[in-house]
Amino acid sequence: MTTRSLLILPGDGIGPEVMAEVRKIIDWFGTQGLAFEVSEDLVGGAAYDAHGTPLHDDTMAKAQEVDAVLLGAVGGPKYDALDFSVKPERGLLRLRKEMDLYANLRPAQCFDALADFSSLKKDVVAGLDIMIVRELTSGVYFGEPRGIHKEGNERVGINTQRYTESEIARVARSAFELAHKRAGKVCSMEKANVMESGILWRDVVQEVHDAEYPDVELSHMYADAGAMQLTRWPKQFDVIVTDNLFGDLLSDLAAMLTGSLGMLPSASLGAPMANGRPKALYEPVHGSAPDIAGQGKANPIACILSFAMALRYSFDLGAEADKLEKAVEAVLADGLRTADLLGEEGTTPVSTAEMGDAIVAKLAAS
Ligand code: NAI
Ligand code: MG
Repeated sequence: MTTRSLLILPGDGIGPEVMAEVRKIIDWFGTQGLAFEVSEDLVGGAAYDAHGTPLHDDTMAKAQEVDAVLLGAVGGPKYDALDFSVKPERGLLRLRKEMDLYANLRPAQCFDALADFSSLKKDVVAGLDIMIVRELTSGVYFGEPRGIHKEGNERVGINTQRYTESEIARVARSAFELAHKRAGKVCSMEKANVMESGILWRDVVQEVHDAEYPDVELSHMYADAGAMQLTRWPKQFDVIVTDNLFGDLLSDLAAMLTGSLGMLPSASLGAPMANGRPKALYEPVHGSAPDIAGQGKANPIACILSFAMALRYSFDLGAEADKLEKAVEAVLADGLRTADLLGEEGTTPVSTAEMGDAIVAKLAAS
């Protein structure tokens, strides 16, 4: 029998509120014969309050063993004055670092009912479903030499874009694996016209493709042209793979094609484990939203869609992920909106729990 283990770390602020809705969905799948071994633990400020550290060693060890970690959000004003070494964010950073999560996945997915939210024309974004894979552990944010020094009588600031073949190859593999579970296309973006690291990037992605994934349709694009194409006709893309710096910009750009922070899921993947599943951490893009925490106002969809990504990319349950995304689409089409999604006048927002319940009801009816 296949086991599916999941570590849930709700965290702080609205984290526990949105995670409670994900639990309802996990429980519903359980009633359909799809069981998950779920354990729950503390991260961020919640872990600091209990243990004096934002991530206990036991929790770190558990995260290394499970198939997937699902995290809510960390942080809040209560912890702002803490020493840097024990700040809630350090818990999340430790998870990412020790699990060596080098591929950051940011989908841009547009639900028809929310297409009016986009700053682009409705037909440009309606039905959009693309995935940006950003290299997360190397590149110009980490390269040496770096710093600010004096040359003569002026200051010079230096950062170095540095990529090894193996760093490029492993994130390329992540992108090609995702393409297998999606529409089978990868577009790699760099600046091979002006950067040597870009030339190497292009070569290595092509080599990995030719040797291991010849069935995937691969194209290359300069990252600046890619930015233009993303706003002109984003539906031409399926998976985009790019470096840390370009990915930082392009993933934020792509996210806003589709609207609200309360809707955006993400994943960070690492190397395949012994069972073939990648090390994986799934989390909404948003933070702990202290301004609305404890009020039942949070939109749980970003966290629910993060679980849908776990279904698809950690557990090979693409059909179930589709089903969950369709349920989200259906409640939105019915006009249900949490407060963050309210544009139209005269609509009453639903609560976090009402949104979760409605999604479960759609699943049950599908
Ligand atoms: P935030 O994402 O928590 O909130 C920004 C704005 O969006 C707020 O007005 C909030 O109410 C709204 N919002 C966010 N998620 C929402 C949701 N699901 N439904 C409805 N509205 C939502 O970012 P902010 O305010 O900059 O940071 C708040 C705290 O969260 C800080 O302590 C920050 O360090 C932490 N943070 C944690 C992250 C994480 O855990 N990955 C990421 C970003 C921030
Ligand atoms: Mg950014």
